[in-house]
Amino acid sequence: MGEIARISKTFVGYLKRPDLYPELGRKIIKNIFNRKGAFRGKEKTNSWASAIAVSQQEAVSKLFGVEMKSFSELFPNELSTANQKEKECPIKMGGAGALELIYYACEFTQAKNVVETGVAYGWSSFAALLSLTKRNGTLYSSDMPYLGQNGDQYVGYVVPENLKKNWKLFRHADRESLPKIFGETPEFDVVHYDSDKAYEGMSWAYSQLYPRLRKGGVFISDDINDNSAFQDFCEKNGIEPTVVDFEGKFVGVFVK
Ligand SMILES: C[S@@+](CC[C@H](N)C(=O)[O-])C[C@H]1O[C@@H](n2cnc3c(N)ncnc32)[C@H](O)[C@@H]1O
Repeated sequence: MGEIARISKTFVGYLKRPDLYPELGRKIIKNIFNRKGAFRGKEKTNSWASAIAVSQQEAVSKLFGVEMKSFSELFPNELSTANQKEKECPIKMGGAGALELIYYACEFTQAKNVVETGVAYGWSSFAALLSLTKRNGTLYSSDMPYLGQNGDQYVGYVVPENLKKNWKLFRHADRESLPKIFGETPEFDVVHYDSDKAYEGMSWAYSQLYPRLRKGGVFISDDINDNSAFQDFCEKNGIEPTVVDFEGKFVGVFVK
């Protein structure tokens, strides 16, 4: 699809969803006034992150005190069904991230309430729910779907039916979803951020999510390498995070 066709499809997708008009307005303003802001501090963060990055196994052992097993060892059947569903899905979205890190964070905190931003196929939701269902806990997810591809109905496609009773999916932009989620639960055991990757969007969401993470809870942010929002947030709040090198990108994590 050409660039103009893609933009037009996305624009029409927005027009069909009045609940997403506030996000459309914000995107238009950002594109006019602040196009480069998304990548602010990218170089600085990449040299900082690559100097301290560890593997997922090392992070799980250091932060949670256990030896990490892979998802293919822990949940072979569930994983193969989810992989099969991803293959069948007619809409193409981003693939699985650091599933084990999310799962072990939920196990470490014995999580009952988890909040995540960014669902797409639902790989991170799948990982959190596999732990949460053990305690009949709840995953609160915020996702504004891929409007250009009519992908609404496929958000969370890899999440098995039997896990959905522990899942509340809020299908708006984070700025609308998060206040609704906080209205249902004031405090969380694990936060996973994986939605808007622009500096402003990340900084805003971190400032909302961090105060609602309980002491001893785990904060995870995907793709911290696109700009310095995560690094700057940690420095401002005196946090020493662990940086995980995962398939050529960096994930930030810390225990509050
Ligand atoms: C990288 S994908 C999430 C991947 C997912 N965590 C997983 O493990 O499969 C990012 C998702 O965030 C959504 N998104 C982007 N900006 C958003 C925003 N401002 N509010 C809510 N969702 C947003 C995208 O539509 C997309 O579905």
